[in-house]
This record gives sequence, structure tokens and C-alpha cells, in this order.
Amino acid sequence: MPDFKGLDLSGKTAIVTGASRGLGAGTAILLGKRGANVVVNYVSPGSRERAEKVAAQIEENGTKAIVCHADVSKINESKKLVAAALKISTTGKIDILIHNASLGNEANLVATTEELYDTHFNTNVKGPIFLTKAVEPYLPQGGRIVFISSAGARLGVAGQTVYAATKAANEALARVWAKELGQSHGITVNSINPGPIATDQWYQSDEQFLKDMQPLIESTPAAARVGEVDDIAPLVAFLCSDDARWTTGSTLSANGGLYN
Ligand SMILES: NC(=O)c1ccc[n+]([C@@H]2O[C@H](COP(=O)([O-])OP(=O)(O)OC[C@H]3O[C@@H](n4cnc5c(N)ncnc54)[C@H](OP(=O)(O)O)[C@@H]3O)[C@@H](O)[C@H]2O)c1
Repeated sequence: MPDFKGLDLSGKTAIVTGASRGLGAGTAILLGKRGANVVVNYVSPGSRERAEKVAAQIEENGTKAIVCHADVSKINESKKLVAAALKISTTGKIDILIHNASLGNEANLVATTEELYDTHFNTNVKGPIFLTKAVEPYLPQGGRIVFISSAGARLGVAGQTVYAATKAANEALARVWAKELGQSHGITVNSINPGPIATDQWYQSDEQFLKDMQPLIESTPAAARVGEVDDIAPLVAFLCSDDARWTTGSTLSANGGLYN
């Protein structure tokens, strides 16, 4: 009989930020399928219905889900996510924290404004720092934190001055927290770094950026295409599992071999 126990997330409680669409939605649904209860976070009023559909799909698969409106860029809203998680947790613990919500507007150096800098750093870096701080008291031994980084953190893609810096910061935070929360707390902290994924963030990129990226996509070693949510979410779920206990502070490439 096959034994997948090491990948099983039954009884765990997870927060997935930005789970109303794209990779966050796919990850939330998969964590649910693996047995976790999941907080489905969103921020745009227009995404409530989408978040509710994600939660309904999780519940259809047999675990608990709760929709939580919270803006991760605002420190005060972290407590909404913690409260939501504790409502569906059967243990009083929050086992899994996925930092997925992100802004990713393109701007090269000369087009970079202070507003773009502030919105992106607040959402992509400040948000995860203070949300992790809020969740830390509830993370048990064996807890898991996963950042969704980007190949942009390493590739040096023109037009990603601020976005790439925020994603490099995510990978740095994973390395720091792997030490701070490792031996003392028994928690692993890792990053996944996807290349282009077929989601709203990708298709909302400006036309010239998409054109410039085409040769890169065609050179992707694994296949000449952009990634799909289903290419990435299983790797996130793996890092949340007991089988991944000996991986921490690392960045797992999920970009078809564009960069390691
Ligand atoms: N798509 C790509 O090509 C690509 C490539 C590499 C890495 N990534 C990374 O993968 C992750 C997911 O990207 P995606 O393409 O799935 O993104 P997406 O389709 O643009 O979805 C973004 C998600 O983040 C949420 N969000 C944005 N700001 C938020 C905030 N302040 N508070 C709470 N939630 C917020 C959005 O919520 P609403 O629906 O409520 O607005 C939405 O659920 C991101 O970290 C991104 O950087 C993406």
C-alpha cells in the first residue's frame, strides 16, 4: 500500500495571503486537499466572491476554510488573519504561513517613484515581517513558513527595480528566520522562486515587458512556456510537509530551470 504520510497536512491550520486568485488560490486549495484548514485572504473588495469560491472548494474537499479580508501592508490587519486562523484551528496553533500576497508592477530605475517603492515594500516585505511576528506565538514545533519569491530576485530582469528588490528581501528573510526560528522553535522557513506564471500578475504586465520576456520563456529548459499554478503549488505544499523537515533557509527553484 502506498504511504504518503510524510506529505499529509491533516489537522494543520494554514494562512495563505492573497489566496483569492492565481498561485495563492491554487496553493490554498491544494493545502486543503492535503488535509489543512485554510485561511483564504484577500484585499480588493471585488475579490470577495472569488475568495468565497476558493473557500467553498476547500470545504467541498472536506476541511475547514475561512475567508479573511486583510491588507497585509497594514501592520494592524495582521491580527485579523491570526484571529481567523484561530477560529478554524482545532489545536490553538497556526502551523503554516504562506507569504504569497504581492504587488509586482514593472518600472525601471528612472520610472521608479516613491509611491511605487512604498506600496511594494509595504506589501511584499513589511507585511510578511509583521504578519510573521503576529503568528509566531502560535507556530508550533514543526511549523512552516514559505515565501513566494520570484526568479526576478536572481535573474536581473529589466523593469523590475523595486519588485526584484522585494523578492530578494523575501529570500534573505527566509535565511535569517531559518536561524532565528530553527533550533529554538523547530520551524522551517523557505522560499520558492517561480519564473513567469500564467496568472493575473503576469497578464497585467505591460505589452513591451511581455514582448521582451518572450525569448526568455522560449529558452526555459524544462519547456518553452510560462509556468502554470499547478506547476508551483505542489512544491509549496511539499515545503509545508513533514518530509521537508530537513530543508530550511533555502530557495527552491520552480521556474523550469531558468535560474537556480
Ligand atoms: N505571476 C507571475 O508571473 C509570478 C512570477 C514569479 C513570482 N510570482 C509571485 O507569486 C505570488 C502570487 O502571484 P500571482 O501571480 O498569483 O498574483 P496575482 O494573480 O496578481 O494575485 C495577487 C494576490 O495577492 C493579493 N494581494 C495583493 N496585495 C495584497 C494586500 N495588500 N493584502 C492582501 N492580499 C493582497 C491579491 O488579492 P485581491 O484579489 O484581493 O486583490 C491576490 O489574491 C506573488 O508573490 C508573486 O510575486 C508571480
